[in-house]
Order: sequence, then C-alpha cells, then structure tokens
Amino acid sequence: MLVAATMASSLSAFAADADRGEVVAEVRCLPCHHLHLSTKRIGPGLKGIYNRVPTISGVPFERWDAEALDAWLANPRAIKPNTGMFIPPVAPRDRADLIAFFKRDEYSED
Ligand code: HEC
Repeated sequence: MLVAATMASSLSAFAADADRGEVVAEVRCLPCHHLHLSTKRIGPGLKGIYNRVPTISGVPFERWDAEALDAWLANPRAIKPNTGMFIPPVAPRDRADLIAFFKRDEYSED
C-alpha cells in the first residue's frame, strides 16, 4: 500500500492535485492511451507509467520519472522529433497534476 505521498514540488510552483490529474488524463490522454491497462491503443498503455522503463524507442530516459514525464508532456517532439505523439501543449499545472495522478497509480514492478 502506498501511503499518500506528497508530490516533490521542485518541478512546479503548483500544489499537485492527483484527482484533478485523473480528470486531465481522461480528457487529454485517454483518446490515445489506456490509463490502467498495458494494452496499446494509438500509443502504449500507461498502466504503472510512473517510474516505468520506456517502451518506446528514441527517448533519452531510463525511467518515466517526474522530470521525464514533465519534459515529454511539455513537448514530445522536442524530445523525439519523429514521435507519433502529436498533442497540443499541456499546461504546467496540468502536467504537475497528471504526474501526481500517475504517481498515485504507481505500483511495484514485481
Ligand atoms: C494523439 C494521440 C496521443 C495523445 C492524445 C497522447 N499520446 Fe502519449 N503517445 C502517443 C503515441 C503514438 C505514443 C508513441 C510515441 C512514439 O513511439 O514515439 C505515445 C507515447 C507516450 C508515452 C511513452 C510510453 C512508454 O511506454 O514509453 C507516454 C509516457 C505518453 N505517451 C504519455 C501521454 C500522456 C500522459 C498523455 C496525456 C497528456 C498523452 N500521452 C497523450 C499518442 C498520444
């Protein structure tokens, strides 16, 4: 069981809100990603994405930690120019809340 952890807030000036992040994910990510399954839709399933090893090629991250997710969601094409993930920019507050949501949803890999 994860005890409700406060989000390390060095990334953002906002107090991250995981419940709001879940709503943002349903609006912004669900069209292309399962949120709670590893099954691929348009993009890979995001089950347990927080701190997971990337399944996609061409990204310079060892794990999808908060900094990696923040950079990716700010501008995927700045990280990987030929990525198939085309999305309008995700605002900083939305990114912080999304990361809080994914962090809450983290589960152990074993
Ligand atoms: C228009 C469809 C689309 C939307 C909307 C979208 N994505 Fe993606 N996403 C993709 C595709 C396609 C890939 C695979 C990209 C590649 O291989 O370069 C991807 C890849 C990813 C990855 C890498 C996963 C892995 O297993 O390595 C993450 C993380 C991710 N998306 C998060 C998000 C989040 C969070 C949102 C919502 C803010 C979002 N995406 C919205 C299409 C989308």
